[in-house]
Amino acid sequence: MTVNLWVNEEHALAYLRERDTLPHRVDALEVLCELLPARVERVLDLGTGDGVTLGLVLAARPEAKGIGLDFGDEMLRRARDRFAGDARVEIERHDLDRALPSSLGEFDVVVSSFAIHHCPPARQRALYGEVFEILRPGGVFVNAEHVASPTEALHLEFLAALGRTAADDDPSNQLVAVEQHLTWLNDLGFENCECFWKWRELAVVAATRPAVA
Ligand SMILES: C[S@@+](CC[C@H](N)C(=O)[O-])C[C@H]1O[C@@H](n2cnc3c(N)ncnc32)[C@H](O)[C@@H]1O
Repeated sequence: MTVNLWVNEEHALAYLRERDTLPHRVDALEVLCELLPARVERVLDLGTGDGVTLGLVLAARPEAKGIGLDFGDEMLRRARDRFAGDARVEIERHDLDRALPSSLGEFDVVVSSFAIHHCPPARQRALYGEVFEILRPGGVFVNAEHVASPTEALHLEFLAALGRTAADDDPSNQLVAVEQHLTWLNDLGFENCECFWKWRELAVVAATRPAVA
């Protein structure tokens, strides 16, 4: 039986308190921004949290309009506060365990940071397929993600680097090896699938929907 603690306000607040201390998180987001297409009209952020990554994308591509999806009340509140009065942004409630709403439309880029790994692996793969469908031809998917270590020893080293132990492990995490992410993307028809950056369990994986089918 899997649990997803992100529905709890306290879980969200604990993450937000510690977020800035996570080693190399900023590096991952820098790489995510480097991978954005030069021209972005519409961007979707999956598991937007308080909208931090959507905010970075919109700072890099101010001409873009963005949608952020999340299912946590506290995160939705904070994202709406962040973008209050910004006509470019819509923040919508959506549970990523369910298929993406058909009303979303098409995007030049879909981003996500440290969110999709809270879905079961089969759902993560299905979501990647839905991302393919809503990307315009030539559109880019960039996922800064928490991925699995290849061994328990390396997992414990990762936790230690965060000042944590196995007792602190988030049971909401359903980590998948970076190789599996790339296999999914390739199998779904994406091209230029690559892990562009990795530090221990943090990775930036990106792929492009082919310009011509
Ligand atoms: C580690 S936080 C990352 C938030 C933000 N993207 C960031 O980089 O700070 C994980 C986010 O995923 C969201 N999340 C987890 N499971 C979800 C689900 N099933 N549907 C929608 N959002 C989910 C949580 O509410 C939370 O905002």
